[in-house]
Order: sequence, then structure tokens, then C-alpha cells
Amino acid sequence: MTGAESSTIFGNYSENPIFNSEVPLSYEHIPDIDDIVGRDEEIKKLTNTLQRLPQGEHAVPFMVTGDTGYGKTTVVKSVLDELETEMTNVGLDFVYTYIEDRENEREVLRKLTKDLDLDYNGSDLSMYYQRLREEIKERDLNYTIVLDDIDALFNKNGRKDHGNTVLKKLYEARKDVMNNSDGSLLIIGVTNNANITTQLDPKNRSRYADDAIQFSPYNANQLRQILRVRAEKAFKSHALEEGVVGKIAAQVAQGQGDARKAIRILRKAGKIAENNEFEKVRKKHVDEAKVRVERESVLQTAKNLPKQKKIMLYSILEEKRKSPKYKHLFSKYEKVCRNEDVNPVGERQRRNIIEDLDMLGLISTETVTVKDGRGNTNAVNVEIEEEEVREDFVEYMDEEVFGYE
Ligand SMILES: Nc1ncnc2c1ncn2[C@@H]1O[C@H](COP(=O)(O)OP(=O)(O)O)[C@@H](O)[C@H]1O
Ligand SMILES: [Mg+2]
Repeated sequence: MTGAESSTIFGNYSENPIFNSEVPLSYEHIPDIDDIVGRDEEIKKLTNTLQRLPQGEHAVPFMVTGDTGYGKTTVVKSVLDELETEMTNVGLDFVYTYIEDRENEREVLRKLTKDLDLDYNGSDLSMYYQRLREEIKERDLNYTIVLDDIDALFNKNGRKDHGNTVLKKLYEARKDVMNNSDGSLLIIGVTNNANITTQLDPKNRSRYADDAIQFSPYNANQLRQILRVRAEKAFKSHALEEGVVGKIAAQVAQGQGDARKAIRILRKAGKIAENNEFEKVRKKHVDEAKVRVERESVLQTAKNLPKQKKIMLYSILEEKRKSPKYKHLFSKYEKVCRNEDVNPVGERQRRNIIEDLDMLGLISTETVTVKDGRGNTNAVNVEIEEEEVREDFVEYMDEEVFGYE
């Protein structure tokens, strides 16, 4: 590999006219708590709720809600880091586990026991809870579990209700800990999906969702500030034309008010300038950057779907009728399944899948009146605007999922 240098985000930036470093624009970058813009109220609510722990009391489980990119993960992590320091200061044994995007009960439990160094990873799930209780009680430990993107646990795969099961079992563990030790167990759920409470069973709803801390969109001012802090670190001085940050902030504020998207657009605009060897990032690059970011994110959503949902989306995209009715769509779906040697799911589950794809904004469903006037049926429309995204997804399915040469 002599002399063959490939560029990474840590690459050599000394000669780069645009970037100092892309790290401040990367996904993992967590700002210092003092650099968190416009979330004072949310931070205060969280702090108030958690305040009981350093006072040696129990905090009540709660949910954090708000759309993607509203700063939920950033704020919760930063506040918990502060809590950790405070707990050490007052001499209490404290550990927190941050769990993101786990799809089933076992994955959650594995992560918990691993973080606490409990040497169990067998197949009896009830043993995990037992070990957890024992450990907390023995140590009088104050243990906080964050289930971030808890929606993933509610993605119905199979018959088991992983989300409600985990929440219920952890709540039972919490009671045991409270009654039988000086330790504590706190569970915090974080979700992008405000409807998640409708999926909680009534008991879990009153245990977890009565107290929710809601995050709202960022306005243009806040986005500008968020971007400015990152831009100063990421870009060479004078690499950004005046007004680039303001333009991105204004555009994103008019849409979802999503800080993640704003940061992505800024980075993409930088890449466009870099790759084309422009000496500056110009305002006109922002539009192209936005289109590309949106395209990538739709494609990513589609690629992250579980297999059955991918197959349904593929069937919808490959169905040549415009707005196919369910009947036609389902026969297409069955044909795809037959060709690929996949077992088709039942009719009820097909409808659930379609509902989920609709919620993600990939398709929309409509009720249409049947021609002969004898009632209504459902039809499906593709909501992915870009032809290129549709083609990319079909190609991805053919090559990587179905394995065509
Ligand atoms: N208030 C803020 N101040 C600074 N950066 C922020 C703020 N909110 C979000 N970000 C940044 O935007 C991106 C998305 O935020 P994140 O906390 O992951 O959102 P969520 O968890 O709500 O989807 C992250 O890179 C994060 O660092
Ligand atoms: Mg998050």
C-alpha cells in the first residue's frame, strides 16, 4: 500500500481549501452541554425529573418524544453525563446504559448485562432480569437505562410484543429494587414517533407515558446558531460564502426544523465544493446539497426496512399499474415472494406493513370507490418523488437482497 492514500474523515486537511475537519459535521459528534442551542427548557425539565437521584431518591420513568433531529439524543446524553458526575460527587454508585435501535428483547438484555459486566448471555431471558435485580440490590446501585429509538422494539416482527414486554419486566425489576434495597432503577424511553403511546398497553402507558418531555422543531435562528458553531470548527476561514449557513437554516426551518438534516446539508455543500475544486462553498451549492441529502435519506429509510417490508415496497415500485388496488398489489407481492422463495405473510400483516410504509412517508394509501359502485377499496400511491431513488432501491433489492448477478 505504498503511497496509496485513501481519504477518510480524518484525512489530511492541511492542503484542503474547504475543510479543516469533517468531524464536527459527522453523525457521532456530541456538542458540549454549553454548546447546545435552544433546549434550555427541555434540559431543565430533564434535570428536574432526574434531580431526585443525587438526593438519594427514586426518579419516575418517563418518555422523551419529538421528531428526528430535534436534539433528543444529544440532550439526554449530555444531561446523563452531568448526572454521572453529580452522582460521583455525592458518593453514590451510578451507571447508565444507553441503548439505541435494538429490535428485540434479547438484544436489549444482552446490552444491559454486558454494560454491568454480568456474566450471563444464555437463552433464558428471565435470567437476565434476575441477574439485573440481584446486581442492583447487592450493590445498592443507581442504574438508569435509556431505550432510545424505542420504536424499533415496537416494529412488529413476529407475534411477540417486544416493546411492551421489556417495559413491563423492567418496571417489575424497578419495584423489586425499590422495595428491597437502597439502589434504584430508572427507565427512560426516547421516541421519534409521537404515536408510540397508542402502542403501549394501558399499564405501560400510565407507567411511562403520563410524563413525557416533548421536543419541538428548531426555528431558523436556532438552526443558524447550531450550524455556525459546527461551521467554525469544520471549515477553513473564508471557505463559506456569506449567507450559506443562513440559507440552509431558513430552508430547513421551513421544512421539519431538523438539526440533523441541516448539518448534513452543510457537510454535503462542502463536499460538492471540495469535489469540484471550487475555492468556496457558495449559496447556490446549497440547493443541490439539499436534493442530494433528501435523496440519500429516503433511500436509507428504505434500505433499513425489515425484509418483508422491503419486499412489499419493492412490489409496489415494480407494480406497473398506477395507484394499484390492494388486490392487484397483493398478487404482485405473492409473485415476488414466489420468485424469491420467501414465504408471504398473511393478509392482515400485509395491511400492517402497508400502514407502516405509509407512516414512513414512502407510500400513501387512499380509499377508492370501485367502478361498479358497489363499495370502496384501498389503493396505494408511491410517495418517493425521485425516479432515481426508486431505481436505486430496485437495483439494491435485485442485487443485494435477491442476489441477481
Ligand atoms: N440544540 C442543539 N445544539 C447543537 N447541536 C444539536 C442540537 N440539537 C441537535 N443537534 C445536532 O443535530 C444532530 C441531530 O440531533 P439528535 O440529538 O441526534 O436528534 P434526535 O435524537 O432528536 O433525532 C446531532 O448531530 C446533534 O449533535
Ligand atoms: Mg436520536
